[in-house]
Amino acid sequence: MSKVAIVYWSGTGNTEAMAKAIEEGAKGAGGDVSLFEVESFKASSVPDYDGLIFGCPAMGDEVLEEGSFEPLFTDAEKSLSGKPVALFGSYGWGGGAWMESWAERTRGDGAKLFSDGLIVENAPGDAELADCRQLGENFVKSL
Ligand SMILES: Cc1cc2nc3c(=O)[nH]c(=O)nc-3n(C[C@H](O)[C@H](O)[C@H](O)COP(=O)(O)O)c2cc1C
Repeated sequence: MSKVAIVYWSGTGNTEAMAKAIEEGAKGAGGDVSLFEVESFKASSVPDYDGLIFGCPAMGDEVLEEGSFEPLFTDAEKSLSGKPVALFGSYGWGGGAWMESWAERTRGDGAKLFSDGLIVENAPGDAELADCRQLGENFVKSL
């Protein structure tokens, strides 16, 4: 059974709702899935997982949340080479520029990036939650 960590930061719950739907899909596909708010995940445990799914909304000016997610991700990057990784997050008005640079950065780390990042404008509705479940399912099936 593939071991998957979903690690996210969410200020107002939109990215969290995505994370929970991704978890549901990943579990439904038979993954051994753990969901972590970023504060409870240790970057040193990245090698323990077959795949990682990171979630963070667009913050600042098209960047990752800088207080806790950015430092964690910076640490995690040291171990991402060769790892299957998927990215997701919610945004407000920027059209997804933060995700484009995050995906580029993650490819640059040598991670096996699973498609482009999944982005949702503000709160996910039913269709977007279905996309999230699908991402979780497809990611686990790809491992
Ligand atoms: C301080 C702050 C900065 C933000 N910066 C951006 C931004 O640069 N681009 C964008 O599209 N949305 C931006 N947003 C909007 C959030 O990405 C959006 O509200 C998102 O749904 C929040 O997700 P969450 O509920 O998981 O925290 C910002 C929101 C806040 C509070």
